[in-house]
Formats: sequence, structure tokens, C-alpha cells
Amino acid sequence: MKIIKSLILIIFLSIGYCYGNSEISNGIRKIQESMKNFEVDGCKIVFDKVSKETKGFKENCLQTYLSKKNNGNEYNFINNFVRPKVESLLEESSFLLKRCNSDDYDDNHLGLERGQRLRDFLKEWSSSLDLLCNIVISGSYVPMVFGLDNVKKSRAIIECQDLDTPFNHFRDCYDAYCPEMVVIPSGSFVMGGTDEEHRALGVDEHIWPWDQPRHQVNIKKKFAIGKYEITLRQFREFIKETGYRMPIGATTVLRVYNNRTGTLDTRVLFTEGLHYEAPGDDFAQTENHPVVAVRREDAREFAKWLSIKTGQTYRLPYEAEWEYVTRANQGYQYYIWGNTTEGGCRYSNCFDLDSFDRFQFKFDHFECRDGEKTSARVGKYLPNQFGIHDLLANAREWVDDCWHYGYEGAPCDGSRWGEENNGICYFGVLRGGSFFYNTYNVRIAYRNAYFSSQARSSMWGFRLVREINE
Ligand SMILES: *[C@@H]1O[C@H](CO)[C@@H](O)[C@H](O)[C@H]1NC(C)=O
Ligand SMILES: *[C@@H]1O[C@H](CO)[C@@H](O)[C@H](O)[C@H]1NC(C)=O
Repeated sequence: MKIIKSLILIIFLSIGYCYGNSEISNGIRKIQESMKNFEVDGCKIVFDKVSKETKGFKENCLQTYLSKKNNGNEYNFINNFVRPKVESLLEESSFLLKRCNSDDYDDNHLGLERGQRLRDFLKEWSSSLDLLCNIVISGSYVPMVFGLDNVKKSRAIIECQDLDTPFNHFRDCYDAYCPEMVVIPSGSFVMGGTDEEHRALGVDEHIWPWDQPRHQVNIKKKFAIGKYEITLRQFREFIKETGYRMPIGATTVLRVYNNRTGTLDTRVLFTEGLHYEAPGDDFAQTENHPVVAVRREDAREFAKWLSIKTGQTYRLPYEAEWEYVTRANQGYQYYIWGNTTEGGCRYSNCFDLDSFDRFQFKFDHFECRDGEKTSARVGKYLPNQFGIHDLLANAREWVDDCWHYGYEGAPCDGSRWGEENNGICYFGVLRGGSFFYNTYNVRIAYRNAYFSSQARSSMWGFRLVREINE
């Protein structure tokens, strides 16, 4: 792996060199133009590299090992978990390579940070492969690395009961890992944002189509959603019981010295060594802070575990459900508190003057103070009309759907929108903003995704839905 790492470093350095040359000047168009060539070249290098690396990984780490020992738990772990994982990363990287080389790549506006994100994707994938390799080599796959076969149900089931009838607020058990859930009635709403909103808040024009066309969605069945984001305490219980392991390293906000301009710049970068217990500087996490730096797949594993514990169905919210909950029958507005930025610090842990003082990021911050620079304990801010906290900011939240560049063809019944992207659905959607999100990204309608199944950030966490069957 050392050789691979130094090769990657060389790739990064050469990309970094090109990046520096494509001078970033005024205006979005200009930035896109100047980065265009670099992007395409960068894609080729990065994704060819990933393909080679995953293939190399298979040969070195798996096949050699398999040939020596190929029985029992180890064999099962490799075949049932590691192999599919490596295959899916390979598929993902070749999908992205194709996308990078297609004519309409730039029409899809992957994002202005593409160049930087490509390098981060590679680091994310690489650290995931490191984890798998370490598990295989150390034999620490036994017992319970990723499987949930041994999860104990008994205690939870015996203690499970509704705390409140009628079914408004409840927990499926008294244990700390059972989140408080709120029942959301069925109903309809209009999903998406308008040009008027985008113009009013200064949203970059190239992402206007992402939350359009507006369309009516009918949610036919009631369901329950977490009153709060899943907390560090709850996540720790999952890790403790299952031995589940996650790759190390996550993207976070950093102040970095800019060699070219001689200034300190604010960047969002993959940072070695970060993980959910230590997601960055300025993170004084208590056990009641939202768990962050988790991949979408980690959130899903947590939901599976909780489902087994409680005998109920927990899962990530569908994207339409998330927006339905957030809008809470208040009609069309930009934020849960109305249309102006004034409610920012009362309702959301957004990028305010306190965050600005720390990070100096020059974009539209909220002109208020809430005393928080990074994440805050869940429930510190006012809830929306359904009584749900931290929807618009604190941690951004994974939802279950696949990414689409707009709502053309979206389902109107609140179901999960998946299976597309040529059958590849590794790229999950994030909803809401985070403590580092400006006035136009804390909008209810805002949505985004990153083209790496392994993406994780100190800014992202999740909350869960619990299905209600009657
Ligand atoms: C800036 O970067 C260049 C190239 O990496 C390096 O040679 C130089 O020493 C750096 N300067 C400072 C002030 O760090
Ligand atoms: C917010 O703006 C929308 C669209 O202009 C308008 O329909 C709505 O009434 C406004 N809401 C508030 C609370 O001002």
C-alpha cells in the first residue's frame, strides 16, 4: 500500500500543479471555463488510477490471501462483503470516468469544486480499501465486522413500548439507542423552489434546475421521523455492539495557507485521521451532538441494526418525505421560519457571525450569533411546525434516494427515487444545510450530492424514518 500511496501523492501533486495554473478569476462562467480542461484531464488520471488500484488491491490483498486460507468466516467475509465492495468501487469509478469524458459533463454542473472533489474522492476510496485490507490481513473480521447477525434483540423487544398514545411521540424502547420519533400525518405538498426564490437569495444560476420543476407530492401513509438527528451516543451503542468499522479520514473545513496569494484561505478538504469521534478542530462533541463523518452506507447499517433491535422498520428518509416534514404544511416559503434570514440563529445552527469569526469564509453568512462555530447539541434550536429540530442546519442529512439533476420525472407519491443513473445508485442525496452553510444553502428546497459512495464530512449526519404499518 505504501507504493500505491506515494503514486497517489504524485497524482495529487501533478493535479495540484494544474489546479494552480487554472487561475480562478471573477465570475462563475470564467471559473468553469478555466477549469474545464483540467477537469477532464484530472478525471482521466484520477479514475484510471482508481481502477488500477482497486484491481491491484484485489490481486494483492484478496487473491493471495484467499489462496492461502479459504474457509469459514474469513471466506464468507471476503466473498460476501469485500468482493462486492471492491466490485462496486470499480464500477463507480468507471461510471465516473465515462461521465467525465461525456460531452454533456459540464452541462450537468457537477459543482465548482469538482477538481478538488475528484482528489477527495480518490482519498475516500483509498481509505475505504485500506480498511478492508487491514481487516482481511489482521483477521479482525471475526466476529461482527459488518454483518449484523449477532445483534441481540431480546432486551430491546422486552422493554419496547409506546411511551405515548395516541401515537404522536414515541420511542420503540427505553434504551438510549432508541431515538425519539414523531408521527407525521399523511398529506400533500409542493416540492421544490422557484426562480423568484433563487433570485431573491442569490442562488447560483447553474443550480436553479436542481430543485425544479416544482411538483405536487402526495404522501399517502403516515410515518414517523426522528425528532432529532441521530446522536453520537446512539451511534456509539451501534459501534459497541456490532464492532462495525468505518474508514478513517473525512472532509472538513480548514483554514489553509495559500502559498500563491500569501493569505489564509478557507477550504473544505479531505483530512487524514478524522472520524466520527474526532471530526475536526473546534469540535467539542458531547454525546448529544449529532454523529457526523458517516457515509450514507454507515447510516443505512445503523438503521438496519436499529430495525433488528426494535423489530420495527427504520430507514433513511426518502427525499420527498424529508421536504414534506420540513415544510410542515406551512405553504411555500424559503426557510422554516419564513422568507427572510432573520430567524436563522433561532431555528438553525447555520453559518452565522460566530462561525464567520472562526472561519472567515467570505460568503453570505447570517447576521446573527448563536455561540456555535461547528455542530451543536441536537434540539438546541427551535423546532419546525411538526416539532422536528435541526432540519435546516446543524448536520446535513443523508436521504435514501439516488441523485438526479432536477425533478423531471420524480415520483409524486413520496416514494424513493432510485435505480437510475444507468442502474448505478451510489451517489446519495444530502438535504438541509450545516453549521457551515450560507443563507442560500440553508433553504428548504436546497439539495446536493457528491459523486462518491464513500463521501463523508464533519458537516454531515442523518436522522431516520420509522415506518408505521396499520
Ligand atoms: C510555495 O510552494 C512552492 C511549490 O510547492 C515551494 O517551492 C515554496 O517553498 C512554497 N513557499 C512557501 C512560502 O511556502
Ligand atoms: C414567502 O414567499 C412566498 C413566495 O413569494 C409567498 O407566497 C409567501 O407568502 C411568503 N411567506 C412569508 C411568510 O412571507
